[in-house]
Amino acid sequence: MSGINIDLTGKRALVTGGSRGIGRAIALRLAEAGCDIAINYLRSKKPAAETAEAVRARGRDVLLLKCNVANTENLGGLFEEIKEAWGSLDIIVSNAASGVIKPALELTRRHWQWTMDINAAALIPLAQHGTALMPEGGGRIVAVSSLGAQRAIPNYAAVGASKAALESLIRHLAVELAPQGVRVNAISAGVVDTDALSHFPNRSEILEESTRRTPAGRLLDPEDVADAVLFLASPLSDMMVGSTIIVDGGYSIMG
Ligand SMILES: NC(=O)c1ccc[n+]([C@@H]2O[C@H](COP(=O)([O-])OP(=O)(O)OC[C@H]3O[C@@H](n4cnc5c(N)ncnc54)[C@H](OP(=O)(O)O)[C@@H]3O)[C@@H](O)[C@H]2O)c1
Repeated sequence: MSGINIDLTGKRALVTGGSRGIGRAIALRLAEAGCDIAINYLRSKKPAAETAEAVRARGRDVLLLKCNVANTENLGGLFEEIKEAWGSLDIIVSNAASGVIKPALELTRRHWQWTMDINAAALIPLAQHGTALMPEGGGRIVAVSSLGAQRAIPNYAAVGASKAALESLIRHLAVELAPQGVRVNAISAGVVDTDALSHFPNRSEILEESTRRTPAGRLLDPEDVADAVLFLASPLSDMMVGSTIIVDGGYSIMG
C-alpha cells in the first residue's frame, strides 16, 4: 500500500485485556500507529509487563492497569488513573472477555451472570467513564466480538449470547454517541489460536475444522484482528456507525 498512512500520533488508547492474545496484538498495532497505550489485564502480571515493555520499545507511553472490567467500582478507579496520567482518552478497545464454556443445559445462574457481566455489561461503564474523558471532537469505541454472536457453536451458549448482547449494545451506543463524534463499532473475529481456546474440550478439532473451512486457507492471526481495530480507530472509518465487521477469512459465508 502506498500513499495512505494511518497516523494516530498523540492519541491515547485503552485496550481491555491488552496483555496477551488478540489484545496484545491490538495494543502493539495501535502503538505502532502512534498511540500511547493503557493496558488493562486481570490476573497475569508477566504477560502484561512484557506487552508494556513492547509498547515502550515502540516509543510510546504506557499505563498498566490491573482491574476486573466487570467490577464497576474498580473500573471507576481505572479511569481515574488514566485521567491523572493523561487527562484525556481518545480510543477504547473493549477486548477483555471470559466466560463459561458448557452446554446450555449445564449453565447455572452464576455462569450466566459472570459471562454476561464481563463480556457485555462492562461495555456500559467503559463507555460512560471513557466518553467523559474524550475530547470535544469525539473518539472511538471498538469492541471485539465473535462469530458465536450469530451462530450456534457447541458449548458456547453463554459466551455466544453475551457477544450478541455486546453487538446490540454497540448499535445502541453508536446512535447515542454519534452526535458527539464518538464512533462505536465492533469486529467479529473467526477462530484465533490463543490461550482462550484451551478452555474448549475440543480445541484441536476446532482448529482443524476452522482451517479446513476457511476459504482464505489459514486461521486468523491476532494481527488480522488488530488491523481491523486500527481501521476502526482511525479517521478512515468516520462514517462507520454501529457496524460489526466480520474478519474470518470467509469462514462464515461458507454453506
Ligand atoms: N481466540 C479466539 O478464537 C477469538 C475469536 C473471536 C473473538 N475473540 C475475542 O477476542 C477477545 C480476546 O480474546 P483472546 O482469545 O485474545 O483471549 P485471551 O488470550 O484469553 O486473553 C484474554 C485477555 O483478557 C483479560 N481478561 C480476562 N477477563 C478479564 C476481566 N474480567 N477484566 C479484565 N481483563 C480480563 C486477560 O487478562 P489476564 O491474562 O490477566 O487474565 C487477557 O489479557 C475476546 O473478546 C474474545 O471473545 C477471540
